Amino acid sequence: MKTIIEPFRIKSVEPLTYTTREERERLLEEAGYNLFLIDARNILIDLLTDSGTSAMSTGQWAAMMRGDESYAGSESFYRLKSAVQDLTGFRHVIPTHQGRAAERILFRVLCRPGHIVPNNTHFDTTRANVEFNGARAVDLPCPEAADTQAPLPFKGNMDVAALERLIETEGAGRIPLVLITVTNNSGGGQPVSLANIAAVQRVTSKHGIPLYLDACRFAENAWFIQQREAAFAALTPKQIAQKMFSLADGCTFSAKKDAFANIGGFLCTNDDRLAEQEKDLLILTEGFPTYGGLAGRDLEAIAVGLAEVLDPDYLRYRIASTGYLGGHIAERGVPIVQPPGGHAIYIDAGRMLPHIPRHQFPGQALAVELYRHAGIRSVEIGSVMFGDKARFELLRLAIPRRVYTQSHIDYVVEAVLEVNARKQRIGGLEIASEPPFLRHFSARFRPANRA
Ligand code: F0G
Repeated sequence: MKTIIEPFRIKSVEPLTYTTREERERLLEEAGYNLFLIDARNILIDLLTDSGTSAMSTGQWAAMMRGDESYAGSESFYRLKSAVQDLTGFRHVIPTHQGRAAERILFRVLCRPGHIVPNNTHFDTTRANVEFNGARAVDLPCPEAADTQAPLPFKGNMDVAALERLIETEGAGRIPLVLITVTNNSGGGQPVSLANIAAVQRVTSKHGIPLYLDACRFAENAWFIQQREAAFAALTPKQIAQKMFSLADGCTFSAKKDAFANIGGFLCTNDDRLAEQEKDLLILTEGFPTYGGLAGRDLEAIAVGLAEVLDPDYLRYRIASTGYLGGHIAERGVPIVQPPGGHAIYIDAGRMLPHIPRHQFPGQALAVELYRHAGIRSVEIGSVMFGDKARFELLRLAIPRRVYTQSHIDYVVEAVLEVNARKQRIGGLEIASEPPFLRHFSARFRPANRA
């Protein structure tokens, strides 16, 4: 059979609520044209993020019932620890309430003013946590990533030559760690090859710099490696994931993505002294090291999710369904970051709406129009999110895991194509008010005056 179906059936459903175009126009105005400020009940299809929005399985719900809520030494912690160690091999597993808590603790321990932290591409919270500690976050994407239209297999890779140059000019002593984000979220959800991780590892180990994975979407990355990197085609996704982790000294992890959990994360390291410092900080704000800000039942859901996500039937469906959305809008002329990513499709809004200048936020304008037209929520990944550090003006359509069916996605395809058909009429936005930090969450906009 050629048809790839959802490898699950649905036991429990959540109703969707419809709004009219007039209601959405009013809601947009009230929310300052910022979709983060629109209440979820007024969203029909929510593609804001794939984070924490997964549908959990019967296996996860069942495991939650045996959550051990002991303050110290919970059985659930040991089940999580063993699932994480089986996958990653790391000596220390420190649970946190989500990925950014792991980032905050890691960078607090390792980063000082004057330090530099390279990454293939930092996610917004990662960049913010590096900079909050006075260090500088540097993106080193591979040169091929500059062309959003080139359909190359591993556009998430790090530029190894640029990393070597950076170490040479700045000195290894100023680089407390190197990160690789798999898949490369801000860079279009593109995968990183095992060859690239290994090449970066050779450089970091030569200079005695720890290498960390920002591993939220490790399973999607492993699937792309199996499909696209000939040397590893015979390995299972789990074996590939184990190889990825084996090249790193530690990882940060948001369990809200590839662990199908609605909350949670962890920080791993092989360094005993570092782990002690990290656990001290953990206790300050997250909790005792055997629960780290999570309930025992959350630890159970993550442990089960980590195994489920590596099922080849799931990953085949997952990557096919993302590609289905991307393929259907791209074949009708919508410029997407090529090839389609793992968890999301990124429309190149800068290219689609060349009449809207950068300072009028083409990605945000497109997000607003897609909501106005069809009640779909997406997120800008461009100058609103990253200010002058933005490399592109993208609109991300992130697909929650196991949540939407093919007909939901058909609806999204139809909406994107209809918006695209009259794109010349979409106007830009200007900022009406903004906070100093992480402005995409709460900035307010207004329609810009047309030139
Ligand atoms: N790293 C990456 C690559 C991420 O995509 C995220 C979150 C984090 C770290 C932080 O994890 O949310 O658990 O604190 N990304 C979400 C998104 C929010 O929409 O892409 P968190």
